[in-house]
Amino acid sequence: MRTPFVAGNWKMNTDRQSGLALARAIADAAPDGIDVGIAPPVIYLPLIQEAIGETLLLGAQNAFCEPHGAFTGEISVGMLRDVGCDFVLVGHSERRQIIAEPTDLLARKASAVYNAGLILLHCVGETLAEREADKTFSVIEQQLAELSPKMEDPARLVIAYEPVWAIGTGRNATDAQAQEVHAYIRSELSEEWNPDFAAAVRIIYGGSVKPENARGILSQPDVDGALVGGASLKAETFLSIVKSALPGQP
Ligand code: PGA
Repeated sequence: MRTPFVAGNWKMNTDRQSGLALARAIADAAPDGIDVGIAPPVIYLPLIQEAIGETLLLGAQNAFCEPHGAFTGEISVGMLRDVGCDFVLVGHSERRQIIAEPTDLLARKASAVYNAGLILLHCVGETLAEREADKTFSVIEQQLAELSPKMEDPARLVIAYEPVWAIGTGRNATDAQAQEVHAYIRSELSEEWNPDFAAAVRIIYGGSVKPENARGILSQPDVDGALVGGASLKAETFLSIVKSALPGQP
């Protein structure tokens, strides 16, 4: 059985004090039986790591693909591991679109994260125009090609399906739309990589997940958790979503 994975992507929000308080509140109440992660702004990672210890998985929202050198402003995967990071987001749509990160760079970042022994949280998802042009599956197929089939440990890869039109818009995919794409991703991995790997890997949904819609989406058979943006900035709403991901919830 796949252990659910629910992560909060804080994006460029919080400050030193509010970030610490939020992390502590989540760590104090996170239930067992589920992988709960938070991805604060990188500058607060060491501080938050000290405050939460091993209770939560700690994530970074970005990393560079080279281990060290003359890359002004960048942070390596090794540096993130050094401060206690467990997972790293790659390919978030805000980085694909606003920062214009190209697919070959994302492929290199994905390999760097995985090869460093961290959990790669790789984000894929179509824009509204792509969905309306019936290109959802082909876009996702291209984005999945950023992953190297040499990634053999399913515990260290989490794929987040985040339809771009649902991120930060309040407009979430229906339960059926989420399930359809998750099942497609799993079947692609099964055909292109191997069926055992595909059956074990976690595929989580992101895009306006809130306490009100979490249960329906999270109860779909191929949805193994959630990547939560806005609703992860309040401990109460985030923890409510975390609890809806626990197996056996009504
Ligand atoms: P949202 O963000 O929950 O605010 O839509 C999700 C994400 O960007 O990961």
